[in-house]
Amino acid sequence: MTKRIMFINGPNLNLLGTREPDVYGDMSLEHIENEVRRAASQLDVGMEWFQSNHEGDIVEKIHSCWEDWDGIVLNPAAFSHTSVAVLDALRAVKKPCVEVHLSNIHAREEFRRASLTASACRAVISGMGWLGYLYALKFLYAICGVKSEKEKQ
Ligand code: DQA
Repeated sequence: MTKRIMFINGPNLNLLGTREPDVYGDMSLEHIENEVRRAASQLDVGMEWFQSNHEGDIVEKIHSCWEDWDGIVLNPAAFSHTSVAVLDALRAVKKPCVEVHLSNIHAREEFRRASLTASACRAVISGMGWLGYLYALKFLYAICGVKSEKEKQ
């Protein structure tokens, strides 16, 4: 395995497939995971797929990326809009992170348009459905090992 990428999914994403399919699509989280795993193995990328409904678990999973992980794909879900703790964890760990949202958060309610966590991310993908995870994987695969000025500090 040349690179290792951690996928972290926030609250309510375990309900994908049945949760508001008009907004989030009809694929389950497990189905998305399988598609991403297939793409990762083709790239010879090692990966872990994690979901939690609890903020502290997400913070600790980000901490666990400190060593041995090259990048993070994170859908913080509702915590994007509220969590200083997730933002601080990303800042502390300083791994290149891509924030993914299935829906286009900018075309939804006002409170979803701002993401606190996005400022600690290298890139944000919003509105591409499950394909966002795939493009995030490909992006991190391409840039991992190449540090931005922020990550070098
Ligand atoms: C989401 C968008 C968030 O606003 C929402 O709270 C989610 C999912 C998305 O993937 O589109 O749970 O992150």
